[in-house]
Amino acid sequence: MDESLLKAMKGVVDDLYGHVHRVSDLAVALGKEMSLPRDDVKRLGLVGILHDVGKIHIDPGVLAKPGPLDDLEREHMRQHPEIGYAMIAEKFDRRVSEAILYHHERYDGLGYPFGLAGTKIPVLSRIVLVADAYDAITSHRAYQPALSTDFAISEIINNSGTQFDPGVVEAFVIVIERDGIPTSQPGARAKERARVFKRLTRPTREKAPTA
Ligand SMILES: [Fe+2]
Repeated sequence: MDESLLKAMKGVVDDLYGHVHRVSDLAVALGKEMSLPRDDVKRLGLVGILHDVGKIHIDPGVLAKPGPLDDLEREHMRQHPEIGYAMIAEKFDRRVSEAILYHHERYDGLGYPFGLAGTKIPVLSRIVLVADAYDAITSHRAYQPALSTDFAISEIINNSGTQFDPGVVEAFVIVIERDGIPTSQPGARAKERARVFKRLTRPTREKAPTA
């Protein structure tokens, strides 16, 4: 494997690591705003960190592809919620693993892997979907440059009731207007997250399945 490819792969892993921390912080803020029980807010922190853990078994070439995925690549990428669920189902309680399994379901039923709709999607997944979308839009990705915060906010508002749960979007707007976007600070919580993330992502770097 040539060095530039290794470098590109490291970039993908680093980005994934930063992404999940930002999603975790925003998801926790949304859960608090929605007055979720304390245990569910804690679970949100974990689900934010772990939602994309299945991507470590997705072909790095697909993750880093600078352009639209073809049908087979998209199908392969769309396996990551189920892979992540399988990786952690035995390690955390069911509400955590199920939130990961359903984190790409859409409120209108057009998401994946099952096409669940509305409140049939666990609330933790509906929250992480909004936090995930915000961070994906405002971060540099292989397939797009980082877009502005204002654009991300308007995209989320415009997709309320279709992609996103309107109740979560309402909480998102309140949090953004009142507090801005939460940012990860180094500290005990970040260290704990790093420990959990490393433990979960260490064991099996088997060859990614090909689509
Ligand atoms: Fe994901």
